[in-house]
Amino acid sequence: MAKDVIIACDFNSKEETLAFLDRFTDCKPFVKIGMELFYAAGPEIVKEIKQRGHKIFLDLKLHDIPNTVKKAMSVLRDLDVDITNVHAAGTIPMMEAAKEGLCRSDGSRALLIAVTQLTSTDQEHLEKDLWIQKPMEEVVMHYAQNAQIAGLDGVVCSPLEAAAVHERCGKEFLTITPGVRFADGDVQDQKRVMTPKQAKAAGSDYIVMGRPITQADDPVEAYKRAVKEFLS
Ligand code: C5P
Repeated sequence: MAKDVIIACDFNSKEETLAFLDRFTDCKPFVKIGMELFYAAGPEIVKEIKQRGHKIFLDLKLHDIPNTVKKAMSVLRDLDVDITNVHAAGTIPMMEAAKEGLCRSDGSRALLIAVTQLTSTDQEHLEKDLWIQKPMEEVVMHYAQNAQIAGLDGVVCSPLEAAAVHERCGKEFLTITPGVRFADGDVQDQKRVMTPKQAKAAGSDYIVMGRPITQADDPVEAYKRAVKEFLS
């Protein structure tokens, strides 16, 4: 799959989401549907956005026992999204089960990506809350390798980790990177950010941008600016 800019549609209603997407009259951006929108609007919103011709990253970050994840993935399989994900913390057997559940009868499936460590988790909380006494970067690399062993297609990570993940797991192993901001924009609650241009140079395969696009005065112009910086 080619490199692309994915818009995080973090809205809490179908109406707001579709009104936002209606503004894109001459292009069909890749859309990320996260927990907020999925829990508010259900599988129907996925079908509706798909029908409109958008590619979809369904970002539900599954994490449960392997059997439950496998069954949940087989339900998501029928939504026919392009990318979906699980937490690598669920272990290799859980990731393998997720992949099995996602496979269609003809062997095809959506890309399956693992969340390594959330970018909201810092070293202090890694050690104190999760009791993981290793440097964050080593933990991210270990979880990325586990995802690769389980046969997944890549990881969600910070753009600052994209190059190291590619070095460890190979160029074909996908990096999907949130935490992207325009050089003249507000970083909001993201801690370690890169611009689309820097993310491109770091080797990110997909950048995820939410508020810099959804809350821009002109979201279409902001999206096109991100595409221009990241893809050209
Ligand atoms: O608005 P903003 O560009 O910060 O949105 C980033 C999106 O990426 C949000 O939907 C957020 O939940 C998601 N995300 C993230 N960091 C991660 C994983 C997902 O920011 N580690």
